Amino acid sequence: MLRAIVVSPEPELAEALKQAVAETGQLGVVRQLDRYPDGHELVRVLRAHAPHVVFVSIAALKPAIELSQLGEQTAPGIQFVAINRTCEPAILLELMRAGIREFLPVPFKRQELIDLISRLREGVGKKPPVFSTTDLLFAFLPSKAGVGTSTLALNVSVALSRLPDTKVLLLDLDLNCGMQRFMLKLENAYSVVDACEHAANMDEDLWPQLVTSVKNLDVLHSGGMNPGVRIESFQIRNLMDFARRHYKAITVDLSGNMERYSLEVMHEAKRVFIVTTPEIPSLHLAREKLTFLQGLDLGDRVSVLLNRAHRRSVITPAQVEELLGVPVALSIPNDYHGVHRALTAGREVEASSDLGKQYAALARSLVEARPAAPVQQRKRLTEYFSILPARYSLAAQGKKNGG
Ligand SMILES: Nc1ncnc2c1ncn2[C@@H]1O[C@H](COP(=O)(O)OP(=O)(O)OP(=O)(O)O)[C@@H](O)[C@H]1O
Ligand SMILES: [Mg+2]
Repeated sequence: MLRAIVVSPEPELAEALKQAVAETGQLGVVRQLDRYPDGHELVRVLRAHAPHVVFVSIAALKPAIELSQLGEQTAPGIQFVAINRTCEPAILLELMRAGIREFLPVPFKRQELIDLISRLREGVGKKPPVFSTTDLLFAFLPSKAGVGTSTLALNVSVALSRLPDTKVLLLDLDLNCGMQRFMLKLENAYSVVDACEHAANMDEDLWPQLVTSVKNLDVLHSGGMNPGVRIESFQIRNLMDFARRHYKAITVDLSGNMERYSLEVMHEAKRVFIVTTPEIPSLHLAREKLTFLQGLDLGDRVSVLLNRAHRRSVITPAQVEELLGVPVALSIPNDYHGVHRALTAGREVEASSDLGKQYAALARSLVEARPAAPVQQRKRLTEYFSILPARYSLAAQGKKNGG
């Protein structure tokens, strides 16, 4: 069904139109504006609802034409329909010149509407409206509980939001142990669960109430512990669609439980970062998750973030790459005090610290879309992993060595 918004300073006219289109069952009015919006508001409304059609009253001609011009710039392909009680030929000509090719007279007649909708449908079929959307969607997946994923997701999001013209949304999708609310001391009563419930009819007035803005970063936390709560895949898709039209970059903090909605996010993501520490249990689980994602054809977008790495780590980044077969996008230093200070203050890690600089480097690489580092083949890690395939297992090695 086509989606439309109606702009009319006479609310009765908009109401009459809503009723008339509802009776056709072929077009839905998703938003009604009882005044000509300024440019900023128009862009917000268009991005929020992504309509195919805008009905605009030409009671005042100039703002109606300006609206259609800005609308066309914002989302080329949106169809505009002028509505009014009368329309003199000179005005009709002016509308045509401004690119408004349809005029619907008041009172609205059923057959005229049906014919109009069929022309609109044809127009949309030939040239659907194009809304600019971001593909910068990054998922952060813990290999194992407590490896530092939420800390990383938060700090990379803040670093991203400090880049020029980069409005960022951080979504906490860990519905049981979501830490973003705590880490930033957020008090917003709404959570990602509320956002999902309203995702299909999200609008530009509700959204700012759901998120908390920390400068150029908006955060949607996951609320309190609520094990029974469910998010459906279509809800998360709607939410992502909305967010993609509003933000330059979206980051998602996942629980690691591989819920259906998490998989949905990973399918939508440009890159999936498995966060692991250089320790055997978390590397083991990183590999399990990677294998699972490869089975879903998501392997090519996965890289690893090696958290709490230090120079004297027994397992090196190169060995992690060799073990997992995917690049280590970055090694992030262990800095207990830095993270502790940030937690206590309810904010991000200091940008000037080594840790802060690594987060910033990662953020820059995400928007620069630098290719992932090639995986280098190094000495095998057989001594650590009894979980390796049989040919690499200690037992197999022992046999090979005559043991
Ligand atoms: N680079 C780091 N250096 C030192 N400590 C860190 C670092 N990153 C995270 N931590 C600490 O590790 C602990 C776990 O962090 P965090 O909650 O971010 O992990 P998680 O993977 O999201 O865990 P969960 O499984 O609960 O979601 C926290 O105490 C955090 O302060
Ligand atoms: Mg977490």
